[in-house]
Amino acid sequence: MNSAQNAPTSPKLTPNMALKYRNTFGFEVCAESAYEITAAEQIPKVMQQIAEQKLPWRVLGGGSNVILPKVLPGVTLLMNIPGQEITRSDESNTVITVGAGVNWHDFVSWTIEQQLPGLENLALIPGTVGAAPIQNIGAYGAEVADFIDSIEAFDTAAHAFVTLPKAACQFAYRDSYFKQNPHRFIVTKVAFKIPKAWEPRLQYADLARQFAGADTKPTAQQIFTAVCNIRSQKLPDPKVIGNAGSFFQNPIVPDKQYLDLLQVHPQLVSYPDQTGMRKLAAGWLIDQCGFKGQTVGSVGVYKNQALVLVNHGDGTAEDILNLAKSIQDKVREIYGVQLEIEPNIF
Ligand code: EPU
Repeated sequence: MNSAQNAPTSPKLTPNMALKYRNTFGFEVCAESAYEITAAEQIPKVMQQIAEQKLPWRVLGGGSNVILPKVLPGVTLLMNIPGQEITRSDESNTVITVGAGVNWHDFVSWTIEQQLPGLENLALIPGTVGAAPIQNIGAYGAEVADFIDSIEAFDTAAHAFVTLPKAACQFAYRDSYFKQNPHRFIVTKVAFKIPKAWEPRLQYADLARQFAGADTKPTAQQIFTAVCNIRSQKLPDPKVIGNAGSFFQNPIVPDKQYLDLLQVHPQLVSYPDQTGMRKLAAGWLIDQCGFKGQTVGSVGVYKNQALVLVNHGDGTAEDILNLAKSIQDKVREIYGVQLEIEPNIF
């Protein structure tokens, strides 16, 4: 094959692309110019054009953790890089390298089918593989950081591809080096390290309840199914009601503040945090303020989980952010705690 045959095709460019179906809030959004990126090699040329023309730009994965305005000016890169393969397997671990555009839940399902247990607690999280490490997705006692080996990305500052080992990614609760440096890295591939030694992770109360009293330990497939069931009951399906999962992070407060709050609010729900501080259940705080199930125009607070804001139909980013502000104000007034918005605001 000659080099021309090896070269990836140019990314498809669509002017004025409607993105209602690529943001799980279901907002009416129009991207001025959208490039569908299907191979990492397409990125340098696009980024060079963007730099030369000084255009605004952003990357969109599955659109499940973003709040998009009506118009996205400049260039939007739709990350559609496919592919997943086992790139290493030794006595202790299996390493799987996955394209940034692969659907996260499809990947998790595939690992379970391949008898590679580990990711089952993270089943049914919407979005793409490339977006997962940016906000360090987590649920039911696991975080994606636990399984990252390294990340391949295009570094827009150096205009070069880089491979970052896990230690360089600075993972923390819903946080990473990528999130701390917005607009710098475009994740193209993620290498996952799945340990061959496997133990079920059942410390999360909802999950523990499902298997309480069982004589044998559950299989990864059973945990996968249980997680899918719990999520389906608690969280709205974005195909039915627009949402971006948890809208706020669970606030992490110093022990002193937690103990003072507990004096006044003995029912306060919280967990010890890995950093030695205390993580408060934001859903509980919002619920106690009376927001759960409330509707304001076309947007509202989900009836089964106060941490999830929803778009009932014609809502916009502005409507959601106004509702978020009234929730933040009330929670601050009553509990003295600042809620931070979790999805990225574009
Ligand atoms: N609670 C209420 N009312 C509510 C919601 C929650 O009182 O309306 C209280 C309950 O006591 C409940 C506790 O808050 O036991 C915690 O709620 P839940 O178990 O639903 O978890 P969460 O802290 O609200 C976090 C993640 C979710 C993840 C679940 C399960 C964040 C911001 N959210 O939610 O992640 O699925 O734990 O591990 O950390 C996401 O990030 O989009 C997401 C859905």
